[in-house]
Amino acid sequence: MVLGVLGSGSGSNMQAILDAIDAGSLDARVALVLSDCPGAWILERARQRGIEAGVIDCRGFRTKFPEEAQVETAVRLKDAGVEFVCLAGFLRLVKRPLLDAFPGRILNIHPALLPAFPGLESWKQALDAGVAETGCTVHLVDEGMDTGPILLQERVPVLPGDSPESLHARIQAAEHRLYPAALTYLSARSGNGS
Ligand code: GRF
Repeated sequence: MVLGVLGSGSGSNMQAILDAIDAGSLDARVALVLSDCPGAWILERARQRGIEAGVIDCRGFRTKFPEEAQVETAVRLKDAGVEFVCLAGFLRLVKRPLLDAFPGRILNIHPALLPAFPGLESWKQALDAGVAETGCTVHLVDEGMDTGPILLQERVPVLPGDSPESLHARIQAAEHRLYPAALTYLSARSGNGS
């Protein structure tokens, strides 16, 4: 499985994917890492591993992922031989040009049990809602925000006295198990590496 990763932040989920590859539990290779934030730590993590890393030029838009930038991103991913694209904390909505380039082959990780709590800061949404349990989800990406077919989920308890930070940390620990597991599952389902 040749992977491309798009992220805007720290890249701890990409690190979990790399760790699973190193441990031999995931038969994959990360060929390219791209970020819309030039200073994102995910780019530094990639460079330190000798993985090609680059910045997506979003033409000065703060939150939009402009069409030209999506086309460029698709071309760069294809040129790198990428088969599956992992969104890992990527904060822009992916639309048609990129979706069409990788039909059914773009994944996202979300810090809640979708369809509950889509959007930003889902762990805060869960605390505010007073639920006893939340979790994380790996799903295929479609044109909606945090919609698309669910591949795997892991439940995470909300504990008495949890702060947004403590709950988020517990969810992230689950994410780091779930993303590699979802890729292994997808690889088997698609006949990759078999
Ligand atoms: C994760 O919590 C993920 O669920 C959300 O963004 C965060 C990214 O974290 N989509 P990281 O950059 O992988 O550390």
